[in-house]
Formats: sequence, structure tokens, C-alpha cells
Amino acid sequence: MSAAWWQGGVVYQVYPRSFQDSDGDGIGDLRGIESRLEHLVSLGIDAIWISPIYPSPMADFGYDVADYCDVDPRFGTLSDFDSLLAAAHSRGLKIILDFVPNHSSSQHPWFLESKRARTSAKRDWYVWRDAASGGGPPNNWISDFGGSAWEWDETTGQYYLHAFLKEQPDLNWRNPAVQQAMYDALRFWFARGVDGFRIDVLWHLIKAEGLPDNPPNPAYRPGMGEMHRVLQLHSTDQPEVHAIAGEMRRIADGFGDRVLIGEIYLPVERLVRYYGVETLGVHLPFNFQLVDAPWNARALAAVIAEYEAALPCGGWPNWVLGNHDRPRVAERVGEAQARVAAMLLLTLRGTPTLYYGDELGLGRVEIPSARVQDPRELREPGLGLGRDPVRTPMPWDASANAGFTTGAPWLPLNGDWAERNVASEARDARSMLVLHRQLLALRRAHPALSVGDLTLLEPGDATDVLAYERRHGDQRLLVALNLGAMPQSVALPGWAHGSKVLLSTLEAEVASIGESLLLRPAEGIVLAPPCRP
Ligand code: NOJ
Ligand code: MG
Repeated sequence: MSAAWWQGGVVYQVYPRSFQDSDGDGIGDLRGIESRLEHLVSLGIDAIWISPIYPSPMADFGYDVADYCDVDPRFGTLSDFDSLLAAAHSRGLKIILDFVPNHSSSQHPWFLESKRARTSAKRDWYVWRDAASGGGPPNNWISDFGGSAWEWDETTGQYYLHAFLKEQPDLNWRNPAVQQAMYDALRFWFARGVDGFRIDVLWHLIKAEGLPDNPPNPAYRPGMGEMHRVLQLHSTDQPEVHAIAGEMRRIADGFGDRVLIGEIYLPVERLVRYYGVETLGVHLPFNFQLVDAPWNARALAAVIAEYEAALPCGGWPNWVLGNHDRPRVAERVGEAQARVAAMLLLTLRGTPTLYYGDELGLGRVEIPSARVQDPRELREPGLGLGRDPVRTPMPWDASANAGFTTGAPWLPLNGDWAERNVASEARDARSMLVLHRQLLALRRAHPALSVGDLTLLEPGDATDVLAYERRHGDQRLLVALNLGAMPQSVALPGWAHGSKVLLSTLEAEVASIGESLLLRPAEGIVLAPPCRP
């Protein structure tokens, strides 16, 4: 069976506000993305996932959708989208859109109609409840952005549910009319030619009948963010969600060769259920473990082994190193280890998702308090939960505003943009950008790295080393990553004796490899065994 494009390929996430501005308003847009496709081609990725581009009041920067079947004027028009899609397809790139089904914007006509009156035809499209008997919100659910998940509506004298901002009312997915309207939105874009969707907070769609209180979280400590006061036992991950994912899958499959990626933050055993329960679910339930795992060889080996073991039959793995919600990988593990992390992401078994800017090694960008934009930060300031530091403009070159915009960028650029940008890294053989190009080219040239099997190797005495074999047919490669700051000597399995280095994360050293391999601090290496007749 040959692999589907979304199995062998690499996904690259574009945060559209910050990729490239084409009209000088300081905000990235679709024409901007189209003008930068060459970067993605030369990088060597296969699919672009674009965070939401729909009309939106931008309370949560597009994750508050006011029309599921159009494009926000800040990003362009439907015809700009068609043009981008055609341009991407002509270069062999797929386009994946973001689908935000759990909630709409409070400015969506559906919600405006729903809140007009208790008797409104769309009242039941959202989750409305009376106040608790003693007054106050119907239950103890907390918004992921802090505060009660319920907002009082004066006009109709009821509360409505919002798992995120009050500007993002939760849709009532138990209502068949809501389901149909949302499925129609999927069909609208599939018919236009999009290659797939990343589905926002898929595990949130259905809430427990009766909306019981969530239990308190015994591990809660102040500073974690208020949402962690309770465990989201009844507000997320309900059994009925799988039938909905199944229906989305049926629709996607009806268009042939498309992909659905679910955003799901759950422990592995619950995460893998989103591959499908009874019917098929999404193709790729996002696996965020590399974002959260402690950065050491033993912890990562355990994560890989547990995940591989938990995958259901036919379930294709995937790995994520960063996204628009979490601190950048270079901030989490440091610059040296970020190179090792790139090699890990791009040599593990399964579809990798790479976040824009990580291919340049972008670190945390400090945002002066007067320029904070993210509602997450504004609602619970100072806890380090804000997401602006990972959403800053892509630095392209050393011209004004790093070539991102001719206007004033909506968020500040990285302080080191004059050196850390695409053009200058392209000229530097030791840059993160060149390393990413090399890794992606190596992956393309060796199916063992994309679709091959993976076997973890015993570390022996080299406890800071994570090593694994990738194998596809006759092709056998060995990846060894030094997650520590000391040199490590790795005993090689017999088949890898006398291997040659295909790629190192550090400057190449002409080393002869016999029965063992000496890894420098923070060095990752891909080895190929010698050809034996
Ligand atoms: C998850 C998205 O990734 C995040 O950016 C957004 O704020 C929430 N869902 C709400 O849509
Ligand atoms: Mg613009």
C-alpha cells in the first residue's frame, strides 16, 4: 500500500497575520502568502496549514468566526484565496484550512439571531441556561482564558456558554441543524479544492448532558491559569464527539484524498480514540507530546515508545514541535538543542508539523506591555500564558521591517531580525534554515525517514543519547541524537558498523565510524550503513 500525501509529507503552519503583508496595513494576508511560496518550496515542505482566515471581529485573532464561508477583508477575498490555492497546487503544495467548529464569533448572524429572544428559531444553536437556583452561573465551568465560562445576557435573562472568550459562544453540537450547517461549511471549502482541515479544539464539541459541575483539580496551584482550577471532565471529551468526527471524516473521504487533523490536548490513551471509535475519526489527532515532554533522552524515548504502542491498527502517527499557542521550541530547549529537536521532528515516524519561523530558530520575542494583543495575556496578565511572543512577523531580509510589511507591523519583530532572517540564513551554511532544508531533502530522498518503521535502540552507557533505526524495505538508517551537553560515545548495532554520516546538526567532521560513534554535545546525526553486496 503506498502512503498518502499526508503520511509521507510535512505540514508547515502559517499564522496568516504574521507571514507576509502585501498591502501595507501591517497585517499578513493571502496575497502575501502567495508571494512567499518559493520559500516553502525551497524549504521542502508539502502542505501549508493556515490559521483562520474567515471574516472575524478578531477578538481571538480569527478563532472567532463570523462567517464560515468567506475570507476576512484584512486577509483578502475569496478570489485571493482561489489564486493562492492554484499557485500552491501548481507548485505541488497542499493547502489545509483551520476549521473552528466549537464556537462562532458573538457577531456571527447565527448568534445574533440566537440571542434576540428566547423564542428565536436559532435559540438552540448555542448553549443557553437559566441562572443557578441561588443566582449566578448555571455551573462551575471555567473558560480556558480564565473566569466563568458563562456570560449573562440581559435581554433574554439567561446565560450562554463560552469555553473561550465571551466573544466566542459555544455552538450546540447536539442540535442537528448546527451539525448540518457546519458540515456544509466543510463541503464549501472542499468543493473549492482545499486539501484538508485542522479542526480547532475537536475534543470540546460535545458537553455532558445536564452540564454537571466539573470536579476540582487537586493539582491546581495559583499561577497555572484559572482554567486549571477544575478538571474538564464534563465539558470536554464526551463519547458522542466520536460520531461527529466520524461524520466529518465521511465528508472528507467523499471528496477523496483529503486530510483531517484534530487539535486535541489529552493524555495519549484518550487522544488515540480520535483515530476512530466504531467509525473512522480524523486522520491525524495532533500529538503534542514533544511540546510538553521534558527535554532528555530517556523521557523522549518513553514518549515515543508509549505513543507507538498506543496507536490503533492503521493509525498514522504525527508529531508537533510548536504552534501559535505554545512557547517556541528554541525558547523551550535552547538554541543548541533546537537543532537536535529539528532532526528529531523530521526523522520520527509520522507526519511532522513545523511552525513558521522555527526553521529560522526564532526564539521568544518580548512584547512591551503597551503592545500586547493576545486576549489570553490581557485576561490573565503576567503568568507567561500570552501567545504574542510566538506570533511575531516572519523576518525575510534585512530591509525595513524585515521585508514583512511596508507599514507598521501589528506585533514587533524579533530583536535580532537584521541577522536572523530568511535571506541571511540562506547564505549561511550553518544556519537553522539550511539545516531544515537539508533535513527535508534527506527525508524526501529516503522513504525510510518518512514512511519507514521505527525501532528505538538501547542507549547502553550513552544515557543522554536518543537513538533509533528507521527502516523501509532494504533501506536502513540510524538516527542518534545527543540531548546532553557532554560528548557521548554510542555503541552501534552490527548492521551500522562502518556507516557514513548523511547529515550532522553540527559542522561536518570527516569522522570514520567503526563500531561506535562519538557524538559531540548537542549533536544529532543520521547514519547510513555501508553498502554490502
Ligand atoms: C485553539 C487555538 O489554537 C487557539 O489559538 C484558540 O485561541 C482556541 N483554540 C480557541 O479557538
Ligand atoms: Mg495586509
